[in-house]
Parts: sequence; C-alpha cells; structure tokens
Amino acid sequence: MVKTESKTDARCTSNSTDGTLLRVLMVDDDSMYRQLCRRFLAKDPENSYHIVGVASAEAAIDACQLEVFDCIIVDYLLPDSLGTDVIADLELQMGEAIPPVVILTAGGGEEAATHAVRANAADFLSKRDVSSASLCRSIKNAIEKSQLKTAIRNRNKELSVAYTQLQQSTEEIKNFYHTISHEVKTPLTALREFLSIITDEVVGPITEEQRELLGFSLESCDQISEHFNDLIDLARLETGKLRLKRKMDSSSRLIKRCIAGVAGIAAEQNITITDDSSDDIPDIDIDSNRIAQVVSNLLNNAIKHTEAGGCIRVNSVYESISDCVFIRVSDSGCGIEEQHLNRIFDRLYQVDPKAETELNAGLGLGLSIAREVAQLHGGELLVESQHGEGSTFILRLPVAVTQNLETNFKLVG
Ligand SMILES: Nc1ncnc2c1ncn2[C@@H]1O[C@H](COP(=O)(O)OP(=O)(O)OP(=O)(O)O)[C@@H](O)[C@H]1O
Ligand SMILES: [Mg+2]
Repeated sequence: MVKTESKTDARCTSNSTDGTLLRVLMVDDDSMYRQLCRRFLAKDPENSYHIVGVASAEAAIDACQLEVFDCIIVDYLLPDSLGTDVIADLELQMGEAIPPVVILTAGGGEEAATHAVRANAADFLSKRDVSSASLCRSIKNAIEKSQLKTAIRNRNKELSVAYTQLQQSTEEIKNFYHTISHEVKTPLTALREFLSIITDEVVGPITEEQRELLGFSLESCDQISEHFNDLIDLARLETGKLRLKRKMDSSSRLIKRCIAGVAGIAAEQNITITDDSSDDIPDIDIDSNRIAQVVSNLLNNAIKHTEAGGCIRVNSVYESISDCVFIRVSDSGCGIEEQHLNRIFDRLYQVDPKAETELNAGLGLGLSIAREVAQLHGGELLVESQHGEGSTFILRLPVAVTQNLETNFKLVG
C-alpha cells in the first residue's frame, strides 16, 4: 500500500502563477524533513509542485506504479533499503521511463556520493547544506538532464532506424548493380555484336543506307553502354566498392591516349586540342583507367561546350612542394555561371539539360564520378570559369598515396 501523507500535505503550491507544475515523489522516513522540503519547494518562484511523500522504498515503488513523476527525491538511508537500491528497483520496473532521482543524505560522505553517481542518480545533496534554492535548482537540473537524455535516446533510435534503412538501400544498390551488369549489359553486348556482324557483311551484302543506319545503331549501343558504366560506377561509389587498381604510371602517356580518343569528334567540329604538358613529370601512383576516364570526361565536356573553331588546351605540371601532378583541361567555350560552379559536381546536375543534343546527351554523372575518383586517389578536381570566357578544370593527383588515405577509403590497391 502507498503510505502517502494527508491529502492537504500531499499538495504544495508555490507563489508562481504561470510556472510549470512539477510532480515530485519524496521518499524519506523522516516526516519532519519531508515537511521542510515542502516548504523549500513552496518558495520556488518559477514552478509549482505536486508532491507525494512516502516513507519507504516499497511505498516509493508502489507510488510510481500509480502515478507519473517528473522527479524523485530519495533519502540515501531508508528503513527498508538504500536510496540507490530504489533507483535499481525502479529501473528494473520502469526501464527508460524512470524519472530522474536526486539522492539526499544526512551524513553526506564521499562513499555515499560515489555510490549515488554509480547508481545513476541525477544529483546528490547533503541534507545539512540543502536550501530552498539548491533543492529547486537540483530538481530543475535533474529534469532537464533527464529530458536531454531522453532526446538523445530518441535520436539514437532514429539514427539506428536510419542506419538499418541505409543498409537496406545499400543492399538494393548492390542488387541494382548486379541486375544492370548481368541482365542488361550482357544482352546489350550481344546486340552490338550482331550489329557488327551485319555491318561487316558476314551474313550478306548491305546497302550504303543500311550501313549508315547500322552505324547509328552501333553508336547508340555504345552510348547506352557508357551510361550503364556510369551507373555501375555510381553504385560502386555508393557502396564503397569502387576498387582502384593502382600502379606507377606516366600521366603524359595517359593524356596522349585520352586526346587520341576524342580527336575524331573534335576534328568533326573543327576544335583544336593542344597538349603543352611539361616533359619532366614523374610517374604517379594511379589507377590509369580511372584517371583516363576522368580526363576523357573533361575533354568530352570541353568539346561539348565549345563552339566550332574553338580550342582546348591540356597542360600538366609537377609541383615538388606538394609532390603533386596538376592536369589542367582548359577550353575557349561558353564557360559556367558562378551559381552553377559548385553544383556541376552534384550527381545528375546539368546547367542546361535541354541543350543536350541526342547524340551527345549525358546523364550529368561524369563530373561527380570524376571528383570522387580524384578524391579516392587522395587528390581533388576543381573548376575555374568565367561565363562566356571558357573553363579550366584542374585535376590534382599526389605522386604517391599515403597509407592513411588507403585505410580511410578502405581501398584495395
Ligand atoms: N567545359 C565545360 N564548359 C561548360 N560547362 C560544363 C563544362 N563541363 C561541364 N559543364 C557543365 O557541367 C555539367 C555536368 O557535367 P558532367 O560531366 O557531370 O555531366 P554531362 O557531361 O552532362 O553528362 P555525362 O558526363 O554523365 O555524360 C554539364 O552538363 C555542363 O552543364
Ligand atoms: Mg560529362
């Protein structure tokens, strides 16, 4: 049975007119001291109190089953138990719903204080020194601390739910990657192969018109294949599964290869590409195919955004202070307005998607992949541009990647 005090005694009103009503359970076998605490709390200018007083641990546990309290004040030495045991019992019964507990002790003493802290008490006060101000402050702090703990607990739960969802999405992305690579890319490769066989007249002669149409079909296959490759890379980046196959390699040779790869399209549009890289560039520790992918995307972008008759300049230099190689791709094209400069590295972002012609249409993935590939190498990809005056993309690559970075990115070299 709950041994509460008389009804009039069980309620206490303070001078406060608009303060919060705080529900406090007071556990002390000394009724005089309970009265004193009531008087202390009645002086609180900020809050009103609804106080229930009980004399034993057992009664305290019963009271908590009947009513919800904002705070419990408990004497350290009760006739049937210790104040700290009351906390343990309540934790067992109420779990996370346990209100904050302030422990009071007549004797004080370091041992009791340590005991109280270990038992999760929100505060510990010596009865000798307690005053109206210190008691009210202690209750207020205990409640605020408990609310904060609850908020953190709730946030942790939300984070844990978000983490589970993230794991599920990661799993879905992985499946998506497998679906694309097996279900779509394989038949696409077969389709390309069949078209080549027909174009090469292996199964019979074709007309010039048919050859031209087959050529377009092959280009479309290549375009779709490139888009799928980008999506696959994206899935790998999302899941941290993009693996770099690094070795020391020459950036000059790589640049020449990339320029040769786009020379045809550039020539068609009367765009000149010059390479004025310096000769004394050391080999760098890179995944050559990935860096070629980055440089090719920069060259393709430059071609796409440069008028016929314009020029593109590739320049690479070694800087000994930073021990980095800088590859710059500059064009005399349309440039990029300032408000788009940061956003062009976002996934699927294109300044003017409508301007993409059918033949050179991209997904807006190239730069986001390029920047991540640069970062995986311990480098970076930056842009400088003036609208109407062309753009320069700067790829910085450290000559040697530190061990630390490998671990950070969980790479397999
Ligand atoms: N050299 C450039 N000059 C002007 N705008 C550029 C240049 N390079 C990129 N951009 C702008 O940045 C956008 C994003 O480029 P990104 O390479 O990521 O995508 P994309 O070329 O449109 O498609 P994808 O590379 O996926 O085939 C482009 O759509 C374009 O608006
Ligand atoms: Mg691109």
